[in-house]
Amino acid sequence: MKDLTNTLNRRDVLKTAAVAAAGAVIGVPAYASAKSFEPQASNLVRVPTADDIAKALKTAPKGISEATHKAHLTLWQGYANKTNEIRKALAELDTDPKKGNQIYSQTRALKANYAFAYGGYKNHNVYFDTIGGAGGPATGDVATAINDAYGSFEKWAADMKITGLSGRGWAFLGYDRDEQRVFNFIGDSQDTFPVWNCQLILALDVYEHAYYLDFQTARAKYIDAWLSVIDWDAVNARLQKAK
Ligand SMILES: [Fe+2]
Repeated sequence: MKDLTNTLNRRDVLKTAAVAAAGAVIGVPAYASAKSFEPQASNLVRVPTADDIAKALKTAPKGISEATHKAHLTLWQGYANKTNEIRKALAELDTDPKKGNQIYSQTRALKANYAFAYGGYKNHNVYFDTIGGAGGPATGDVATAINDAYGSFEKWAADMKITGLSGRGWAFLGYDRDEQRVFNFIGDSQDTFPVWNCQLILALDVYEHAYYLDFQTARAKYIDAWLSVIDWDAVNARLQKAK
């Protein structure tokens, strides 16, 4: 799975099918085949499917269960569907300035909720893309970036954990292109608190739906489990793209 920010066109469908067929022959998991997501003419995002959580299901032995991921998928799909619904409404927006209003207006309602919907979609794209790996210390360029910014992987992990415990919805590892550094951002919601020119490369969902079924209120245990299943190859791929 890669970015889900665009719909599949016919060429991608054919390409993905061909890669999937090859993968079946050589034993590559199905999720590894859905790699071709390129900018499309369509203005709609692709709605994720069960295939997109196949890698995440590998976290079950570490305590984040299949049932959690399957329920979580429906929420992820909800963000995609609402993103598309709002985009369709915006395409029909009446831009008569008399209709603009900061207290309540159609534009305000659509655009404020658009940030929540599309933000939630993107957050979950990264969450599910970067989970289901070997975990442990970071590897590759992201390990260097983490060491440069935090001194060691252990210090970064401690900061990420307390950030996750202090957020109401998310903790994010972002790459700041202006300073060329990574930073653990906090998120209270789907549309808080990113900053401009900073690319999301790793996302920790700390909404209760991400862990309550498995850990009840013990969020710290969930974060420990999450740290043990990060897919650092996926994080490195995102970092390379961000630079
Ligand atoms: Fe979530």
